[in-house]
Amino acid sequence: MKPSLFFVPFLLFVLTNTRSISSATTDDFIYDIAGKKVDKNTPYYIGPVNWANGGGIKLSNTKCPVHVIQDPKEVTKGDSFEFVLNAAKEQFLRISYPLGVSINLTKSNGKCKESSFLKIDDMESKPPSNFIRSGGLFNTAVSCFQFVKYPKPTNAKMPSYLLQLCPSVCGAGPHGCFNISTSVYKGIKYLGASGTPLELVFKKASA
Ligand SMILES: *[C@@H]1O[C@H](CO)[C@@H](O)[C@H](O)[C@H]1NC(C)=O
Ligand SMILES: *[C@@H]1O[C@H](CO)[C@@H](O)[C@H](O)[C@H]1NC(C)=O
Repeated sequence: MKPSLFFVPFLLFVLTNTRSISSATTDDFIYDIAGKKVDKNTPYYIGPVNWANGGGIKLSNTKCPVHVIQDPKEVTKGDSFEFVLNAAKEQFLRISYPLGVSINLTKSNGKCKESSFLKIDDMESKPPSNFIRSGGLFNTAVSCFQFVKYPKPTNAKMPSYLLQLCPSVCGAGPHGCFNISTSVYKGIKYLGASGTPLELVFKKASA
């Protein structure tokens, strides 16, 4: 038997198995903690993998603009967020798909009449100018978000994600993506473009 032929059955085995493994992992949908695909235009709570490391993500109920903060309490669910996909025909969120993040301003204080899309005006500046705030515009550089898989998940069985702002994907702005992170400013933990990257999970908000 020629040595090259000897390897054929082995190669076939490898190819067949690689195919079945990769078909499971090429799925780039984003999943909530119940194992369901995250849907667009549907309210979700977002929070840390281990909700005990700080509570859910909520809106500041201060005057306009409304900011996004992390509740220090362990048990709070926070406020809900909705995701609007730039690819209008798609139904579910995927890794690295550009999207807008929308909040319910009526729920937060009812007084802020800005647009409900989130934005960061200047991702390269220092806090508080690089915090996430209301008043964005869908499909523009300052409101151009995406989710990616968290590089080193805390819990291998729980899909966790990182929110990023990628200005140049939607318009003229700095290249690359900025990790949405938390940093404490005047005693409040804000979400913005600097600090500790936020490893987050999704929980569907029941109506
Ligand atoms: C926003 O919140 C208010 C007050 O809780 C609620 O009445 C309204 O239905 C909400 N709007 C959306 C779009 O969820
Ligand atoms: C974003 O955060 C992750 C996790 O800490 C890190 O691995 C990655 O290098 C960061 N990326 C950027 C662009 O800062």
